[in-house]
Amino acid sequence: MNPWLISIAIAYLLGSIPFGYLLIRIFKKQDIRTFGSGNIGATNVARSGAKGLGIATLLLDLGKAYTAVVIARHIAPGNYDLAVAAAIAAILGHCFPIWLGFHGGKGVASALGVFLALTWPSALGILAIFIIIVMLTRYVSLASVIAAATLPVFAFYFIPLRTPIVIAGFLGIPLLIIVKHHANIRRLLAGTESRFGSGKAAA
Ligand code: G3P
Repeated sequence: MNPWLISIAIAYLLGSIPFGYLLIRIFKKQDIRTFGSGNIGATNVARSGAKGLGIATLLLDLGKAYTAVVIARHIAPGNYDLAVAAAIAAILGHCFPIWLGFHGGKGVASALGVFLALTWPSALGILAIFIIIVMLTRYVSLASVIAAATLPVFAFYFIPLRTPIVIAGFLGIPLLIIVKHHANIRRLLAGTESRFGSGKAAA
C-alpha cells in the first residue's frame, strides 16, 4: 500500500480519538461539550473539576499525535515530508474528528505531540514559552496562541528542510490552532476569558 495513504489515514484516525470527551463520558457520565468553553481539551476537562482526567487528556492527546508521527517515520524512514504530512493529518483528526461530527478540539496538546516527534528542540522552546505565559497570566488560551505563533521561528531555526509540505505544516498547524482559539481571543480582548484555576467557566 502507498506509504503516504496509510500514514495519513492512521494519523487522522489516531488524532481523531477524542480522549477528553471519552474520559468525561466514561468516568463522569457527562458531555464535556456542555461545560465551560465546550472544548474537549485538557484545559476544559480540568476546569470541569476533573483535574486527574485533565492531566490524562493532556498526556493522551499529546501521545496519540506523537505516535502518529512515529508510525509514519517507521513506515517511511527518512521521509520527513511524509512525517510532516502525518502530523498535519493527526492535528486535523483532533480538530475535526469524524466521531464528533467534525467538531473537535483546538489542537494544542496534539501539536506539542507532533512537534516533539518532528523537532523536539522547537517543541521544548514553545513549551517553555507556554509555561511562562501561563505562570504570568493564568490564561491557557493566551499561552497556547502565543506558543503556536512562535513555533515557526523555532522550527525554521532547528530544521534543515524547506519543502512545501514542511512549510505548510509548520505554518499551517500554528495558524489552525490560532483560528481555533477565535472565541478565546474575543474573550481575552473583552476581558472575560477565565483564568486557569479560577473555577470560573468561560461562556
Ligand atoms: O488547549 C486549549 C486551551 O488553549 C484553551 O482551552 O477550554 O479555555 O477554550 P479552553
